[in-house]
Amino acid sequence: MVKVTVCGAAGGIGQPLSLLLKQSDLITHLSLYDIVNTPGVAADLSHINTKSKVTGHVGNAELEEAIKDSDVVVIPAGVPRKPGMTRDDLFKINAGIVRDLATAAAKFAPKAFMCIISNPVNSTVPIVAEVFKQHDVYDPRRIFGVTTLDIVRASTFVSELIGTDPKELKVPVVGGHSGVTILPLLSQVSGTDKLNQEQIEKVTNRIQFGGDEVVKAKDGAGSATLSMAFAGARFALNVIEAAVRGTSGIVECTYVALKADEQGAKGVKDVVGNDLEFFAVPVELGAEGVKKILPIGNLSDYEKQLFQAATSELKTNISKGSNFVTEGSKL
Ligand code: NAD
Ligand code: LMR
Repeated sequence: MVKVTVCGAAGGIGQPLSLLLKQSDLITHLSLYDIVNTPGVAADLSHINTKSKVTGHVGNAELEEAIKDSDVVVIPAGVPRKPGMTRDDLFKINAGIVRDLATAAAKFAPKAFMCIISNPVNSTVPIVAEVFKQHDVYDPRRIFGVTTLDIVRASTFVSELIGTDPKELKVPVVGGHSGVTILPLLSQVSGTDKLNQEQIEKVTNRIQFGGDEVVKAKDGAGSATLSMAFAGARFALNVIEAAVRGTSGIVECTYVALKADEQGAKGVKDVVGNDLEFFAVPVELGAEGVKKILPIGNLSDYEKQLFQAATSELKTNISKGSNFVTEGSKL
């Protein structure tokens, strides 16, 4: 039995993400939670002839039932950006939403794998971690910031340049999930030796600011939803595949607490220092979530410069999220 709860299931990401999850035979119960419209979304999806049961839950009074005993909780709840906004501008509204959903998960599904999509991911993941610590159920191996869309974009944009199949091209993207904290490691991708430095810098910038491209094109109607649903479903299904089916060798880059595997994180810490608690790293997934943090590998001189630019912003984002919970939401 695998119960997956999507929080924010009636939204721009939530609906297509739920559709993609409904197609998986790995899931037996798909629980849809939102503050609006989930009965309709659930009725609609429940007619699809795959084996999972679909239930819809609306409003805070139904949150316990929605989330209780979930194996996986995916959170794309909250507001998206409009042109001119940074992801950090969403903190004011989304921090409280994520804290309250994390509180319900800590109480009613403390063993769930938590997949956090809501922005700003660099801060919302520390929020979830602090809530779980406060409830004494914190396991850093089970809390993930979903940065898969950065990896999906990197595969697409780099393939366009070097002429490979984007489905097969794996581009590691580490760091965080906003602007300069997004660190694509193009020097590790075969075929990128064909690119000159100007091309490398241009495509790096496109990956770092890919979200802005969509926000601008949607012109006030939100941010990436369909590509995010694709990326979020890929990530959640890989977590389940590794944990439930026991499939080994599944690797995803994801934003996690480096405590999740202190031994594995040593190499990252050598580069970013000891005081960054969270960082997106390549992770081998397993029965308990993070099985191993894998090495980030060699960096080019250009990538080393990018790391320097990312560190201070990440530090600020992380403490903003943690302090929101530990200092009683005063921010
Ligand atoms: P949306 O406005 O279309 O949907 C959000 C949904 O959340 C709505 O249905 C809303 O009713 C619901 N919601 C609000 N408060 C809630 C609460 N307390 N409990 C449950 N549900 C609640 O927005 P969207 O386009 O789906 O984006 C959602 C979030 O995902 C945004 O913060 C966006 O920035 C983020 N996002 C992250 C990534 C990433 O790569 N991690 C990519 C795209 C978008
Ligand atoms: C993205 O990368 O598309 C998301 O984080 C949404 C955004 O605000 O850009």
